[in-house]
Amino acid sequence: MAEQGRIGTRDAFDAAAADFAALGRHLWEPLSADAVAVADPQPGERVWDACCGTGASAIPTARRVGTDGLVDAVDVSGPMIRGLRDRAADLPPLHAHEADVTTWEGGDYDLVQSVLGIFFLPDMEAGTRHLLRAVRPCGRVALTVWRRGAMDPAGGQLALAVAEVTEAEPPGERPARPIDRINQPDTFAAWLRGLGLSEVDVLVRSRSLSMTPEVAWLLVTGSGYRGALAELTQEQVARVRDRYLARLHEVGLTELDVTTLIGTGRVR
Ligand SMILES: C[S@@+](CC[C@H](N)C(=O)[O-])C[C@H]1O[C@@H](n2cnc3c(N)ncnc32)[C@H](O)[C@@H]1O
Repeated sequence: MAEQGRIGTRDAFDAAAADFAALGRHLWEPLSADAVAVADPQPGERVWDACCGTGASAIPTARRVGTDGLVDAVDVSGPMIRGLRDRAADLPPLHAHEADVTTWEGGDYDLVQSVLGIFFLPDMEAGTRHLLRAVRPCGRVALTVWRRGAMDPAGGQLALAVAEVTEAEPPGERPARPIDRINQPDTFAAWLRGLGLSEVDVLVRSRSLSMTPEVAWLLVTGSGYRGALAELTQEQVARVRDRYLARLHEVGLTELDVTTLIGTGRVR
C-alpha cells in the first residue's frame, strides 16, 4: 500500500475506520471469505484473528466455531474494535480486543489467522513468529498477503496526486518493503517453512476490484492509504481526490488487481 506519510499505521487505520466497513463490502469481505474458506475453522475451535479490522474474517469465523468455540479478534486500532463490537454484538464466541498483536499474550489456539495484517508489523518476521507461538502443538496457521503487484497501481496514482497537490517532488519507484520478500507463492511458501511450519501450502486467489469513482476513493479513505492524506487540509484532500480520479481515468485503471496469497501450515 502507499506510504503513510509521517503518521503511523495505527493513526492511519484509526482515520480509515469510518470508511473501512463501506469499502469492506467491495474488498475486505470477499477477500476474507476466501481466507476463511481456506483456514476452515471448525465448531468448538479456539481461534486468534490477528489484525482483525472490523471483523471481515473474525465474524464469519465466529459463526463457524459456534457457541462452543472462541475467537479472540485483536486490532491495535480502537475505532476498528469499536466498529467490530457494534457489528458482532449478537455473536457470543467473538471477543474483540484493542491491543497490539506483537504483545498479545493469548495462547493455545487451534488456529491463528491474519488477513492482510502481518506486513504492517514493525518487524514482520519477529511479529509473525510471535503469532506462531500462540498456536497449540499441531495447530494451524493461515496468513493472507497481497500477491506481487496487487494494489500498487492505485497507490502509485495516489502518491502522484498527493505530490502534485502539495507541489512535492513526484515519488520515484516505491521503496522495497518486507512484503516484497513473500509476495509470490514460492517465496511465501519458503518463508513459512523457514518459520518452522510443516504441511505448508500457498493458494492464489485471483480477484479484481471494479474502480468506480466511489470505490476508488473509498479505497483511499477506508484503507491504510488514508495515511497519505493525514497532513493535508480539507481543500487539499478535495484536490487530491479530483487529481487521483482523473489520473485513474487517464491511465485507464478501471479494474484493480487485488489478488491474494493464502499461506497455510501446521505448527510442529
Ligand atoms: C488491511 S487491514 C486488514 C483488516 C482485516 N484483517 C480485514 O481483512 O478486513 C490491517 C489491520 O491491521 C491492523 N494492525 C496493524 N498493525 C497492528 C498491530 N501491531 N497490532 C494489531 N493490529 C494491527 C490495522 O489497525 C488494520 O485494522
